[in-house]
Amino acid sequence: MAIQILLIVGLVFFIMFTGVVVFGAPYLPTLKKQVDDAIDLLELSSGQTMLELGCGDGRLLLAAAKRGIKGVGYELNPILVLYAKIKCWKYKQIISINWGNYWSKSWPRADGMYVFLLQSYMNKLHKKVIQYADGREFKVVSFAFEIKDKEPQKVVNGMFLYEYDKKDI
Ligand SMILES: C[S@@+](CC[C@H](N)C(=O)[O-])C[C@H]1O[C@@H](n2cnc3c(N)ncnc32)[C@H](O)[C@@H]1O
Repeated sequence: MAIQILLIVGLVFFIMFTGVVVFGAPYLPTLKKQVDDAIDLLELSSGQTMLELGCGDGRLLLAAAKRGIKGVGYELNPILVLYAKIKCWKYKQIISINWGNYWSKSWPRADGMYVFLLQSYMNKLHKKVIQYADGREFKVVSFAFEIKDKEPQKVVNGMFLYEYDKKDI
């Protein structure tokens, strides 16, 4: 009986961590040493808001919050949502972690975004960001994957910075 329960629990975990590939990238965290580089690249000030699509264990949101940057994250895996919420508890006044599919959510107003997706989703992201930003200035940092139809403003340690404004409409 104990083995059956273990197998079921293992299967549930397996599905949660691998099943997300239908909707986006599987869980692979940004390396700790690159977390600060990513936030530096976005150049957000205290009081501004960072959006993170697929926020994983919340490490980017937490690092940003330590600089006074507000954060909104979306995550499909409920185990990671719970873990990230516990990890970011101290900053719950400025961090909001939401369970769900970021493609189907209405993103709140933010000043910049961090993503670590897959190459196959970058074009979809680009189109959605153009609609979302609607001509205002908005920055996106993407780890590892580039937007083929847009020139990055900077490339640092495998991270691409993109700046959107009225020219993108
Ligand atoms: C490559 S990991 C990056 C995690 C985190 N952003 C980081 O850099 O450490 C991608 C994350 O996105 C989540 N994810 C994938 N597709 C998603 C979707 N459509 N909606 C919400 N979360 C999604 C996965 O569960 C995973 O935690």
